[in-house]
Order: sequence, then C-alpha cells, then structure tokens
Amino acid sequence: MTVSAFTPGSTIGVFDSGVGGMSILRHIHALLPQQDLLYFADSGFAPYGEKPEAEIVARALHIAQYLLGQGAQALVVACNTATVAAIRLLRQHYPDLPLVGVEPGLKPAAAVSRSRIVGVLATAYTLRGEKFIQLQQQISAQSRVQFLLQPCTGLVDLIELGQIDSSDTLALLQRYIPPLLDQGADTLVLGCTHYPFVQVQIERVIAQHQASQLADAPAITLIDTGEAVARQLQRLLGAHQIPPNPHPTQLKGFTSGSASALQQAFWHLLELQPPVEAVEQEF
Ligand code: DGL
Repeated sequence: MTVSAFTPGSTIGVFDSGVGGMSILRHIHALLPQQDLLYFADSGFAPYGEKPEAEIVARALHIAQYLLGQGAQALVVACNTATVAAIRLLRQHYPDLPLVGVEPGLKPAAAVSRSRIVGVLATAYTLRGEKFIQLQQQISAQSRVQFLLQPCTGLVDLIELGQIDSSDTLALLQRYIPPLLDQGADTLVLGCTHYPFVQVQIERVIAQHQASQLADAPAITLIDTGEAVARQLQRLLGAHQIPPNPHPTQLKGFTSGSASALQQAFWHLLELQPPVEAVEQEF
C-alpha cells in the first residue's frame, strides 16, 4: 500500500511600505492562482523612501517575522526601497527561505532603449543605495546606456492617499517627467512599486509634453518588473518544491495603518475584496 505524503498548502507572504506592492501582488495572483497569499501593507510607516536605513531594516525584519508566523513559506519584498535596505539581512536571517526582492528594471530598459538614454523614477532612498549604484554601474558598463535618475519625492504619499488622478499627482508628474524626455530619454523605469498605479497618468503627461514639442517625438517605453518578479517567485517555489494548494486561493491583507483604507485600496487598485486585519504598529 502506498501512503501519499501529506502536502500542506503553500502560502506566500508579500509586503511593501503600503499599497505599492499590490502592483506585484496582481502578477503573482495571475501567475500562481493556486498559492495562498498574505499581503502586508506597512501603511502606518509609509513612505519608507524618506526614512533612515535602520528604521526600514527594522520594519522589514519585523514584517518578515510576522508573515512567517502567519504561515508564509516564501516571502516577496515587493518594495524597491526595502529591498535595497534589507534583502541582504533577510537572506542572512532566513537562509533556507525562498525570498524574492525587487529592483528597478535597468537591464530590460537598456535592452529596449534606442536613444541609449533611460530615465529612472524611484524613491530617493533607492537611488542612493549601494545596491542600486552597483546595478547601475554594471548595466552602464555592459550597455553604454546613460541613466538619468529622478527621485519622485511626494509621489508615494499621494498614491497612499488614493490620489491617483488628482491635480497634485499630475503636478508632480509634470515636474519629474518632461525634463527626462527633454534630455533624450526614450525609456522610463518605474523603479518603485507604487508607480505602476499612476502609469496612465504618466502616459498622459508624456503625451501632453510631446504634443507641445515641434520635433517628431519618439515612442516612450515604460518598464515595470512586476511580471518578472512573479516569474522569479514561480522558479524559486519550483526549486524549493513548494506545491500549489489543493483548494482555491485565499488572499488576506494585513496593515499597520487603517483596515478600511487597505480594503478600499484592494478594491480600487485590484478589484479584490479580501479580508483585512489591522495589526499593532509595534507587533
Ligand atoms: N513601493 C516602495 C518602493 O518600491 C515605496 C517606498 C516608499 O514607501 O517610499 O520603493
């Protein structure tokens, strides 16, 4: 008689400083529909991009521990800023855990740019991080592409407030994006997981700026690495032999901010209505 091994369902923990990581979560949900997903929005501490490194590292370690305590068997740091600050320490703490971070898509951008000039939109913290600087040097040396770095201070705060289409958001985008186009960028990297949620607004600002120019405008490519991150997670789960769940996907949200704000964000950004729990800020 053969006794089939009991295979517990697998659960993936995903976290960000707030709602931005949902731009990664949507790709994971689509690619791995049979994995249970826990999403932690650290909205009580957002934005990370303006915080000291020690604070971001402490939050990342706390949240990782919390999600593992909730049953996560793999973690996705769905935040460029937290990846820069904490991924190395997280790997040291959990050497056997499947762990995926995100970083601005400089390599895919360099591969598609025809002008060889690429704009990188990210938080100030991400752009001055050692991990990012090394990546930039490596890709510049390989591709001879010039990267124009644009910290988008204030944008995460507005997206956290749900102000996707507000005049304040458009004013910030109008300040940050046209100078990159004027310097010849034909490719823009969305180097913060919040930014895909204002992609339509970014495209509108690009179109308005190009319409105001006399010369023929090149097509501008936007680079979002959400799908690539989901595929990397899929590869890691396979390598660790983590099986899919035998039952339909469960999704649950946690937040260090307001539960109703996270519920609204799930609905407005992803059209999902998972249960959401507010947790103590200092859990
Ligand atoms: N979504 C985070 C990132 O990808 C935002 C960081 C922040 O909270 O400033 O960098």
